[in-house]
Amino acid sequence: MIRFEQVYKRYGGGHEALAGVSFELVAGEFAFLTGHSGAGKSSLLRLILLLERATQGQVLINGRSLSRLHRSQVPHYRRNLGVVLQSHHLLLDRSVYDNVALPLLVSGYRPRAIGRRVRAALDKVGLLERGADNPLQLSSGEQQRVGIARAVVHTPRILLADEPTGNLDPELSAEIMALFSAFSDIGVTVLVATHDVGLVGAMGKRQLCLNSGRLVGDHRHAPAA
Ligand SMILES: Nc1ncnc2c1ncn2[C@@H]1O[C@H](COP(=O)(O)OP(=O)(O)OP(=O)(O)O)[C@@H](O)[C@H]1O
Ligand SMILES: [Mg+2]
Repeated sequence: MIRFEQVYKRYGGGHEALAGVSFELVAGEFAFLTGHSGAGKSSLLRLILLLERATQGQVLINGRSLSRLHRSQVPHYRRNLGVVLQSHHLLLDRSVYDNVALPLLVSGYRPRAIGRRVRAALDKVGLLERGADNPLQLSSGEQQRVGIARAVVHTPRILLADEPTGNLDPELSAEIMALFSAFSDIGVTVLVATHDVGLVGAMGKRQLCLNSGRLVGDHRHAPAA
């Protein structure tokens, strides 16, 4: 589903953010992406999101090289992706329901489909009863779950997250990570960049580890007893 072949990313100043990165995630697989600050985690995610292009090498999504994708095809391609960031960027003058519905409104879904999808997404994150609330009435963990509902409301095949638990305490972080894992159980391919090494060790999932732009580890932890 996601395949990197000898991918290099150099930014303007000649700085090499990714160097010779190769790995593959099959459909429905879950992996953490770890590494020190500046290791290249966000850069790797940005290549999949097509916010950046690889300098060298290939990024293939569903067997298709992103370098062959024409600019006009990018919006269509991005509909396969859901994205969760550290800060959820919810609109505070709208209800939880409206926040989750927003991507569907922008994409021109019909009102009935919007209602059905928003309720399904809120249900998946355990917030079906909170649709009418304002995001400020929710705890920070609940707000992050609204962000996740918004990221999956269009049922993407791939879910990417960049430090999604950065602002949360350990218990809430574990809850959020379990939620991501549940999406991989229903066939979504999930890649989560995180600093939270303790949590990664506890979850028994595949871990791709970057060091100064190089993939230095690709292993699976045994889940904590
Ligand atoms: N737009 C850019 N222009 C130039 N250099 C960049 C750019 N974005 C990132 N970099 C550099 O590329 C390297 C990798 O950055 P990246 O943001 O991918 O790291 P990261 O692993 O996500 O770090 P963090 O854990 O702090 O978020 C860093 O040295 C960074 O300074
Ligand atoms: Mg980053």
